[in-house]
Amino acid sequence: MQISAELLRRFAGAKRVLVLTGAGVSAESGVPTFRGAGNTIWKGMPFDVISSGRMIERDLPAVWEWFDYRRNVLDNILPNPAHYEIARWQERFDELSLVTQNVDGLHQKAGSRNVVELHGNIWRARCIKCGCSRDYSSEQRPDACHACGDLLRPDVVLFGELLPAGAFEFAAERAAGCDLCFVIGTSALVYPAAGIPEIAKAGGAFLCEVNPERTPLSGICDEVLIGKAGEVLPLFGSLNHQSTKSQT
Ligand code: APR
Repeated sequence: MQISAELLRRFAGAKRVLVLTGAGVSAESGVPTFRGAGNTIWKGMPFDVISSGRMIERDLPAVWEWFDYRRNVLDNILPNPAHYEIARWQERFDELSLVTQNVDGLHQKAGSRNVVELHGNIWRARCIKCGCSRDYSSEQRPDACHACGDLLRPDVVLFGELLPAGAFEFAAERAAGCDLCFVIGTSALVYPAAGIPEIAKAGGAFLCEVNPERTPLSGICDEVLIGKAGEVLPLFGSLNHQSTKSQT
């Protein structure tokens, strides 16, 4: 795997960079991807059934059981070199927009700020009635809404549900105005998130994909870096840039 001279030049000169991440960026931390082996069935149910908005109405306790399981898996998991490299980029570029489909909170753990979470966060619960949400990363999951006492649900976007208001619009605006866009560790199958790189490309950005496998997006990318995010991204950190934020 080699980074082209063109991408190195773009990286050195970029001012506004957008990074879209998916489950693959957390794979080397030990978080199973969605469409990878071993994570497709939960207690006889396909993950897109147990993780669906319809299941909230049909069997909320089962949804919580699934999310409690996933949270336990994540509890002792740490960010990997890919998360840390992306976190460093916020000091390197004038504007770094980090948009993730992940709900694991590992970007924040690595030091990234203002992460646009398109699919919510597994460490938050939301009231099904009044909609107020609560972070419970450092406490036991509460049983009921502290404001109105009604039932809570995971504050994540499930299959068949809409994205949080404004999140996609914000990401799309940043995508349209960026000059370099990285798409890291996503199968690029789930819309509208998968449309973000297309918006960046249409706006004139240089589009680079980092993934061990090609995806439906690879064809429109200017560069496809075939490899693991935790191995590929640190290569950028070791580059000596002429045009970094700290030097301007
Ligand atoms: N580095 C980079 N990419 C990797 C790595 C790695 N070490 N390991 C796996 N990948 C890639 C896979 O090749 C695949 O293309 O990560 C991608 C993971 O794809 P999915 O499991 O489909 O995850 P994602 O694209 O994030 O899914 C999108 O679907 O189920 C919903 O809401 C869920 O946010 C999720 C959305």
